[in-house]
Amino acid sequence: MSASDAGDHDVVILGGGSGGYACALRAAQLGLRVALVEKARLGGTCLHSGCIPTKALLHVAETADVAREGAAIGVRSTVESIDMPAVHAYKDAIVARLHKGLQGLVSGASIDYVEGAGVLDGPKTVVVGQRRLTGAHVVLATGSHAKSLPGLQLVGRVMTSDEALRLDVVPERVVVLGGGVIGVEFASVFRSFGSEVTIVEALPRLVPAEDPAISKQLERSFRRRRITVRTGARFAGATQSGDVVTVSLESGDRIEADLLLVAVGRGPVTAGMGYEEAGITLDRGHVRTDERLRTGVDGVYAVGDIVAGPQLAHRGFAQGIFVAEEIAGLSPAVVEDASIPRVTYCDPEIASVGLTEAQARERFGQVETYEYNLGGNGRSQILGTQGFVKLVRRTDGPIVGVSMIGARMGEQVGEAQLIVGWEAHPEDVAGLVHAHPTQNEALGEAHLALAGKPLHAHA
Ligand code: NAI
Repeated sequence: MSASDAGDHDVVILGGGSGGYACALRAAQLGLRVALVEKARLGGTCLHSGCIPTKALLHVAETADVAREGAAIGVRSTVESIDMPAVHAYKDAIVARLHKGLQGLVSGASIDYVEGAGVLDGPKTVVVGQRRLTGAHVVLATGSHAKSLPGLQLVGRVMTSDEALRLDVVPERVVVLGGGVIGVEFASVFRSFGSEVTIVEALPRLVPAEDPAISKQLERSFRRRRITVRTGARFAGATQSGDVVTVSLESGDRIEADLLLVAVGRGPVTAGMGYEEAGITLDRGHVRTDERLRTGVDGVYAVGDIVAGPQLAHRGFAQGIFVAEEIAGLSPAVVEDASIPRVTYCDPEIASVGLTEAQARERFGQVETYEYNLGGNGRSQILGTQGFVKLVRRTDGPIVGVSMIGARMGEQVGEAQLIVGWEAHPEDVAGLVHAHPTQNEALGEAHLALAGKPLHAHA
C-alpha cells in the first residue's frame, strides 16, 4: 500500500523499545516509510533499565565472587569493597555505547525518529506534541512498567529495579519481594556485593514458572550462598522509619532491612494512550491481539510487553520483525511463545525452552524425562558449579522441553532451542559429537543417556 492513500507514513510505531525499534528497522529494510515515536530513550527498558544494565551488574557480581573464592583454587585474592560509582561507570558506558550504536542504525535507516510522548488519536494517527503522524499502519509497542502492590508506596527505601540500578552504596540488608526473574537476579547481585538478602515469595517456590526441579536446585544453591529464602510467605505491609524499612508478613513475622526491592511483576503501559478510544480491546491492561498480532482495528498491530505472554526482549524483537514483514506482505510464520528460550541470569543461571515436565504430561500424557547431573561434566566441575540438564521427551518421540541450571548454562540455550524447535529425538542428538571439555557436553550426554547409551552418567 502506498503512503499517499492512507497518510504520510506506511508505518507509525509508538514506542522505541525492543519491539518498536526492531519493527522500525525491519520495515525500513523492506522499503517502507517509517516513523518511530519514543518519549524517553531509544532502546527502552531492555537497554536502559533492564537486560543490559542488570547483566552488567551480574558480571560485576560474578567478578566479585571469583575474587572472593580465589583462595580456594590457589589464587590469593580478596574483595576489599564494591566501588559503586565505578560499577555504574562501567555499566553506563556499556549502555551508552549500545545506545549510540542503535541511534546510528535508526538514523542510517532513514527512519523518521520523533522524540516525545505519543498518543493514539483514532486508528491511523499518532499525535506527538504539535505533530500529527498518520500512517497506513500503526504499531503499538509501549512496553511495561514495574508494578507494586496495593498500599505499597514506592518511596525512600522501598523501590523497584529501576531505582535499585542506581544505588550509590551497597545496602547491608535487603528484602526482595517476589522470587520471580527480577527478584532472583537482584538477590544474586546483592548477595555477591556483600548484602544480607531475604527473598519473600508468596508461592511455594522460587521461579515458579520453571520446572519444580529447577526451583529446588536454585533454592539449595541460594541457601548455600546464605541467601534466606522464604517461600509460601505472604507480604502484609512495610513501614519506614529513619534508615530502616520493616517488612511484615501475614504470618506475623517482621524483617528489618535497609532496602525493600519490589519485584512482583511488570504491567503493560497502555493506560491513557487513546487505545480504547480508538476501538482497541484491553484485557487486564494488555492489548488483545490475534496470533498475527492484529488488534482487531484495521491496520493496527501490537508487539512486545503490551501483548500478554512472556515479557522478554527477544520476543519483542521477533514480534516487531514479524509485524514489519506482515505489513510488507511477506506472510511470515507466527512467533510462537512456546518456542522462545528463557534465561534467568542469577548464579546459578537458569535456562529453559519448551515445556516443563508437568506441562508436557498435561499435553501429551506419557512422557519420559532424564536429569543429567553436572557432577559428571568436567568443565562444570572446574567452574565449581552444581546443577543439571533436564530433558523431557514424548514417550518414544521428540524432545519437547529442556531445563538447565548451573553456572553459565544460559549459553547452552541455543542448542536446546534447536533441539526443541526442530523436534529432534534423543537419538538424533546422541549422534552429534559435543566438544570436550565444555559445559555443552552436558546437553550431549543427557541425550546420550536418554537414547540408552549413557557415558559419564550415574544410574
Ligand atoms: P515475575 O512475574 O517473574 O515474578 C514476580 C513474583 O512475585 C512471582 O513469583 C509472584 O508469585 C511474586 N509475588 C507477587 N505478589 C507477591 C506478594 N504479595 N508477596 C510475595 N510474592 C509475590 O515478575 P518480575 O520478576 O517482576 O519480572 C517481570 C518480568 O520481566 C517477567 O516477565 C520477567 O520474565 C521479565 N524479566 C526477564 C528477565 C530475563 O529474561 N532474564 C530479567 C528480568 C525480568
